Order: sequence, then structure tokens, then C-alpha cells
Amino acid sequence: MRKIEISTSATIYKDISELSVEDNKLMHKAIEARKKAYAPYSKFNVGAALLLDNGEIVLGNNQESAAYPSGMCAERVAIWKAGSTYPNMKIKKLAITASSTITNVDKPIGPCGACRQTLSEYEINQKEPFKVLFMGEVGEVVVTESLLSLLPFSFDSKYL
Ligand code: THU
Repeated sequence: MRKIEISTSATIYKDISELSVEDNKLMHKAIEARKKAYAPYSKFNVGAALLLDNGEIVLGNNQESAAYPSGMCAERVAIWKAGSTYPNMKIKKLAITASSTITNVDKPIGPCGACRQTLSEYEINQKEPFKVLFMGEVGEVVVTESLLSLLPFSFDSKYL
């Protein structure tokens, strides 16, 4: 038997005003996307903005359905939009923000497990980490230097 420890690291900014100009701009794009989310059931609006290597910013937001499980998260809407519009284009950064019309979202909201798995495919393929920034509606912003740092013991194609 052996025990291992896995650690990760992140930088926490007090709010969006502490971010670099580029990160601040990307987070504002995510906010713009979040405001267009279609989330009449959960009332939880999420926006995602991807900065690509060609300078393009690709946006996504959550899209819900009356048949609840048929909806989709903002991050996967954004990554599939990027992957289908600009195949093989490297991702440099992903910004995520969430708000709710029924509660105060003042804590950073990380991407769900399914989104982490989906996003990891792209980071692995591009052989270069991309930065992930996430926040609630207001308050602290968590910044990690890679997607895989959010996904220890991840599954990938080498196991198939
Ligand atoms: N949601 C996202 O868009 N991204 C996540 O990473 C977590 C959850 C959405 C899905 C659903 O529309 C709503 O937030 C509540 O779960």
C-alpha cells in the first residue's frame, strides 16, 4: 500500500479589477455571454469566454430545456463552438462567470466535472496548458494555469 498526495495551485484575485487587462477583458466577455444565458429552470446563468491563439474570443452560455437533462453547460457550448468553428486552434484562456436571479452568487464557481472532462480533451490535444479563470457574479476570481490542474486522476484516450 502506498499513499500519495496530489496538490494543485491557484491564484485568487480579490475581484475582477485586480486582473490583467487581457484577463479583465475576457471576463467581461464571459459576463456579456452570461447575460444571454437561457436558464429559465435553474435561474442560474453561466457565461464562458475562450480566448484562442488567433485572437478570436468564442462565447458560450448555458442552454436549458424543459426536458431538464437535455440542457447544456456554458463551457461545453463554448468549447464545441470553438472546436467546430476553428478546428485545432489552440486555446489560451477560458473565463467563466455565474449569477442567479434567486440567490447571490458571490463565490467563484468552477466548471462542473463533465465540463472539466470535455475541456481536458482540448488541452491534452494542444499539448499546451490553458489558463482557467472563474468567478461568481461578483467577488473573488480563481485563476489556474491549466485545465488539468482541476482534474486529478483524469481519464484520457491513452486508456482506450
Ligand atoms: N452550469 C454551467 O453552465 N456550467 C457549469 O459548469 C455548472 C452548471 C449550468 C447548467 C444548468 O443550466 C445550470 O448551470 C444549473 O446547474
